[in-house]
Amino acid sequence: MTYSPTILVFDSGLGGLTVLREVVAARPDAHYVYVADDAFFPYGHHSEDEIIARVVPLMGELIGTHDPDLVVIACNTASTLVMSHLRAAYSVPFVGTVPAIKPACAQSKSRRVSVLGTKGTVKREYTKALIRDFAQGCEVTLVGSPELASLAEAALGGQPISDGDILAELTPCFVGDADDATSRTDIVVLACTHYPLLLDRLKELAPWPVDWIDPAPAIARRVSDLLGPGTGGNVQSGAEMIFTSNRAHSLAAALMPFFGGRVLA
Ligand code: DGL
Repeated sequence: MTYSPTILVFDSGLGGLTVLREVVAARPDAHYVYVADDAFFPYGHHSEDEIIARVVPLMGELIGTHDPDLVVIACNTASTLVMSHLRAAYSVPFVGTVPAIKPACAQSKSRRVSVLGTKGTVKREYTKALIRDFAQGCEVTLVGSPELASLAEAALGGQPISDGDILAELTPCFVGDADDATSRTDIVVLACTHYPLLLDRLKELAPWPVDWIDPAPAIARRVSDLLGPGTGGNVQSGAEMIFTSNRAHSLAAALMPFFGGRVLA
């Protein structure tokens, strides 16, 4: 009999699905519980105290109900704040999602990197410390986007999103002379798990080509390292999707690819 670990993936909404799909690809044998705290979405609009007071007890309830082997906090706005609180309160291993500033700065040739995240993430002391420790002389522009996570949710729900609405959030990431590839921004860190949902639109609307850094594959590797090699081969275990608002899975067909095609309970 093979053992299927349970992995709980948590986000404020549907952005964590971009992390989930990489984790599912790395560990197809695991059982997945995806929790969208949509009753409190968007986290980017809440204060630090409100997020800690919301996430820490909620995680205790979720661990009590689902008994996961590992929890992924697939949300930068929460991870840059709550990881130490969660690790102090619960013994289950946690993997967080924080802005990929270190690899971005290591990779930048123009030495100009932008970090696109929620207003909460770019304000965090945690993010500033990453820049202090890992900018390696790069100029790092922090861009706090008020609406992009909500626009990504709407797009996934099939609503039309205008180019203008996306450009209003994206344009501040592009710094320097558009005609000088040696000095203009060459890397944009996607520091909110919702943004890869819009990646095709972001690429299309960008004033010049850049590399977009999505940390999801690195998170999936970390999950695999912590859990050890899978034993169940490609035999799929089930998956559950939970909305804290208790809303029905009205997006079920659009969500299935993120779960590797599993049928959601
Ligand atoms: N997906 C979340 C993140 O990675 C945030 C979206 C929000 O709730 O504001 O930061």
